[in-house]
Amino acid sequence: MKKTLLNGTLWTDDKDEPIHAHGGCVIKHDGWYYWFGENRRGHAFVSCYKTKDFINFSFCNNVLTAKSKAVDIGKSRNIALVSRVSAPANKDILSRFDDEGRLLCNIERPKVLRNKDGKFVMWMHYENGADYSSAGCAVAVCDTPDGDYTYLGSFNPLGNMSRDCTLYEENGKAYFISAASDNKDLFVYRLIDGFLDVEKHVSTLFPGEEREAPVLFRRNGKTYCITSACTGWRPNQAKWAVAEDIESKFSPLSNFGDKTTFDTQPAFVFSQDEKYIYLADRWGGAGKKYYSSAYVTLEILFDRETPFIEYTTRSGSLVEK
Ligand code: GAL
Repeated sequence: MKKTLLNGTLWTDDKDEPIHAHGGCVIKHDGWYYWFGENRRGHAFVSCYKTKDFINFSFCNNVLTAKSKAVDIGKSRNIALVSRVSAPANKDILSRFDDEGRLLCNIERPKVLRNKDGKFVMWMHYENGADYSSAGCAVAVCDTPDGDYTYLGSFNPLGNMSRDCTLYEENGKAYFISAASDNKDLFVYRLIDGFLDVEKHVSTLFPGEEREAPVLFRRNGKTYCITSACTGWRPNQAKWAVAEDIESKFSPLSNFGDKTTFDTQPAFVFSQDEKYIYLADRWGGAGKKYYSSAYVTLEILFDRETPFIEYTTRSGSLVEK
């Protein structure tokens, strides 16, 4: 049994394989914490691991791959995971190809919620694999948290650009939050019942402030948002804001962590009882450097309503129950 993990190092799973779950999210189900994230090796897009303590991880499945079943649900979505454009000249883009040499699309920041029918619904950022001009989102669904997800296609929500994203649930309603207007704004969309589509653009967070990597969580009757600035793979100063609820106006942004957020970019916040854990990426960089990306988890501390983090070499973990 591993007793501690060091932040920013290469964490491994139960098979001693490096964990690839970048830009990820964590959901609790049946006593397990399931960690989903980007895996850009081979034909994988999204991988899932499970843990009870956030120290020992079992690999579950590559839940979304280039070979995933794709279904057209009749909403004029693009259900191809193979790209419609040719491979980029730009070596900073990590190009991947299927068995027939066709360029694969690029899936980032997958997030999962369970809908009222018990299905697990994944939303993610979709790009064409050559550049970041598609600026779309995509949806996939599965009966179990770690099964083979069925891909339901990519699209521009209500016609809008949509890049860095997250999912968030409050009072039984699900919301998809994504960077719109060429990353100038964060749009909050309420989802329809079943979570397979957007219903309405309900608000715009931090208009014109160019925030990315949105993360939301609720504590003591308030909704918190943590975001990064927009500097690609380079770390920057994350900021936080608070509101009465997700559809209300958020406070102005305040700094979270130091000027590089301890060399991290937010991925998700998950909780166990009163303990809130900041899950973040320490990116390796562009192109193949991406594969050396590591993780940092830190417990979020609170001074009344003000969340803050202090850097620890030891990762933030959970109590096994
Ligand atoms: C970051 C974003 C990452 C990835 C990267 C590409 O700003 O948060 O998810 O898209 O840019 O440069």
